[in-house]
Amino acid sequence: MRIEKITEKNTDKKHIKKVFALAGDIIKKGGLVAFPTETVYGLGADALNQDAAAKIYGVKGRPSDNPLIVHVADFEGLEKIIKEIPWQAEKLAEKFWPGPLTMIMNKADIVPKTTSGGLNTVAVRMPSNKIALELIRASGGYIAAPSANTSGKPSPTRAEHVVQDLSGKIDLLIDGGDVGIGIESTIIDLTSSKPTILRPGAITQKMLCDVIGEVEIDEALIKSDSNTVPKAPGMKYRHYAPKADITVVEGKKEDVVKYINRKIEGLLQKFYKEEDGQQEDVFEDIFHLNIVEDRIGILCSQETIDLYPYGYAKSVGHYDREEEIARNLYAVLRDFDKTNVEIIFSESFYTPNMGAAIMNRLLKAAGHKIIHLEKEDVQ
Ligand code: TXA
Ligand code: MG
Repeated sequence: MRIEKITEKNTDKKHIKKVFALAGDIIKKGGLVAFPTETVYGLGADALNQDAAAKIYGVKGRPSDNPLIVHVADFEGLEKIIKEIPWQAEKLAEKFWPGPLTMIMNKADIVPKTTSGGLNTVAVRMPSNKIALELIRASGGYIAAPSANTSGKPSPTRAEHVVQDLSGKIDLLIDGGDVGIGIESTIIDLTSSKPTILRPGAITQKMLCDVIGEVEIDEALIKSDSNTVPKAPGMKYRHYAPKADITVVEGKKEDVVKYINRKIEGLLQKFYKEEDGQQEDVFEDIFHLNIVEDRIGILCSQETIDLYPYGYAKSVGHYDREEEIARNLYAVLRDFDKTNVEIIFSESFYTPNMGAAIMNRLLKAAGHKIIHLEKEDVQ
């Protein structure tokens, strides 16, 4: 796999032009190019070429009923691929495009069913990342791109994540540095009787309501542990998951820390007994304590990281900087995969705006295992 770096510092215009010509050519010929967007890295192919789109499913190990998002570089691009553009799309595009908003509309026949996962609708988005926009233009105007991860893994927010998952499987990776948002776009379905959010993201329900009036949220996203099937096919699969088993703990911050520490102490004793039955107390045996505590991870905030004496704690950022938490979440989940951690306890991050999106991804990573702390759990 070829890797070409385009960063702010690299101002060699001739080189940059060459990269886009090469990338555009690869896509036009039916190949695959991974590229940065403002949300996560995407794995791009010509959206109107069914053989090219089919390759995406193969490389990612993605179920064929999970449709791809078509990326465009201008609003006019919609006319060719959408049957009838709803008024809401015009208003929302005016306000949020280019940006992290995907809209689902009825597709025109030119969009192959491979791209739309067999549906008569298609998801479309105009990214704001300059590299993404330039690539779309160089490639004929329509790039189908899911996140550039192996199916089930956290989406890539750095070029190295794409290398980890797709090295040797695609033609080119454009390395544009770390992404800005870190969580995939908000998806709104404009084909249902009321516009409905199918995936929360940086554009919140309130922001959407302010522009087009009433907007609903797919019920399956709110009832986190219900059996209701989400309307976006991709949201039904376990996702964003590291190898370790995650449990999310929700409650007052100090209660959460206390609860997690108590659980960890119990687990350390248990692991220790499994490894060395004769010794009495792991906490008196520093050497073995180090070995067993390697197996337990904590996903926490910058404010609380020093409150965990045992286990491998990793911070996703400050509670009051939700953009930071969103940007770091997937990288931290991936980092745990490089360790011996088998069990992760995670704090919860119900922050004011991005909280719905952050918790949606975290809970999916945890397979919806969440503990809601009541008073008696922490005494
Ligand atoms: O931020 C993003 O949206 C990133 C970047 C690369 O643009 N892309 C992304 O794509 O997250 P992907 O394929 O990982 O997620 C697309 C989601 C899936 O859950 C899929 O099921 C849903 O969108 N989707 C796509 N087309 C749909 C449709 N016609 N109806 C319902 N859901 C759809
Ligand atoms: Mg994805």
